[in-house]
Amino acid sequence: MSKVRVGDSVNLETSLGPKLLLSNPIMNASGVGGFSTELSGYVDQTSLGAFVTKSLAVFETKGNPAPRVSGAGAAMINSVGLTGPGIRRWREVHLPNLERERVSTVVSIWGRSIDDYRKAIDELVGVSDVVKAIEVNVSCPNIEDRNKMFAHSTEAVAEVLRATRGIGLPRYVKLSPNTHLLEEIIDTSAVEGADGVVLINTVMGLEIDYQTLLPSLGAKGGGLSGPAVHQVALRAIYEAYSRHPNLPIIGVGGVSSARAVIELAAAGASAIQIGTASFVDPKVFSKVLSELPIEMGRLGFTRFRDLVGASHRGGVAALRVD
Ligand SMILES: Cc1cc2nc3c(=O)[nH]c(=O)nc-3n(C[C@H](O)[C@H](O)[C@H](O)COP(=O)(O)O)c2cc1C
Repeated sequence: MSKVRVGDSVNLETSLGPKLLLSNPIMNASGVGGFSTELSGYVDQTSLGAFVTKSLAVFETKGNPAPRVSGAGAAMINSVGLTGPGIRRWREVHLPNLERERVSTVVSIWGRSIDDYRKAIDELVGVSDVVKAIEVNVSCPNIEDRNKMFAHSTEAVAEVLRATRGIGLPRYVKLSPNTHLLEEIIDTSAVEGADGVVLINTVMGLEIDYQTLLPSLGAKGGGLSGPAVHQVALRAIYEAYSRHPNLPIIGVGGVSSARAVIELAAAGASAIQIGTASFVDPKVFSKVLSELPIEMGRLGFTRFRDLVGASHRGGVAALRVD
């Protein structure tokens, strides 16, 4: 591999396994871009590797009581909850916008029981050619297991993966960092046929309002996101890649710059999602997309693919073979 100069052309193409090729690795994170073209005032959504919907269930949901978001030091904490119109209504009302704009879309799904996941998939069979993949969000309470998070149980994640087979689209399971079982759950995801893993969902947290000394969010607990979780994501991705170098990883956590994209990719992520940073600057997607080739060129990379997992192959030093 030869070194490149800043400005040389850089290839951002990436793949998430044999079934999904992306023109570039940048996506929005589920929950920060609405259900269809809400981001279109800030970014040409067709310029993203893919657009990810907020998680959808078979039923309509209202989410948690207000207040639902708060700035939390170097992070943000939210208890928005999984509010949404339900898949049937999403297909009627939101999907046509994505079809009209030809936006490559990843549909994120969730449920409260294994059967909810099965029904979600049933309602998506034959959905539309703009839908390229399914993200299976398992960070939600399982009513059949005393409301324990699916994502915190190896068996529950396995069951969800078995229940969501048969759609004919690649499925990426979005895992939680809030469990000591994460490595085992990554192994199980690979065994149960997930096409990849999405790492990480938010870190469980709680904020106390210093005026009232009460929890500041309506739901009390919430999910921490933003810069403070970046290193948590790096660790999870690094471990996943070490264990399964051929299992595609979508990295998410605290990304607001090309540098953070490069770090997650070097740890092992083949695509990168941006969440909280888009609340600070909704144009962050375009900013990162334009910075990325320049930063890659500075480090000597001409292809994004070569960056994926570079930390496991000697890093930048391994490029210096000239
Ligand atoms: C307001 C908000 C809503 C979110 N909603 C969802 C969701 O519906 N489904 C999901 O899988 N993750 C959801 N997430 C988690 C993000 O997709 C992402 O995993 C997490 O925020 C870490 O990335 P970030 O640091 O770039 O925000 C949400 C995050 C935020 C801040």
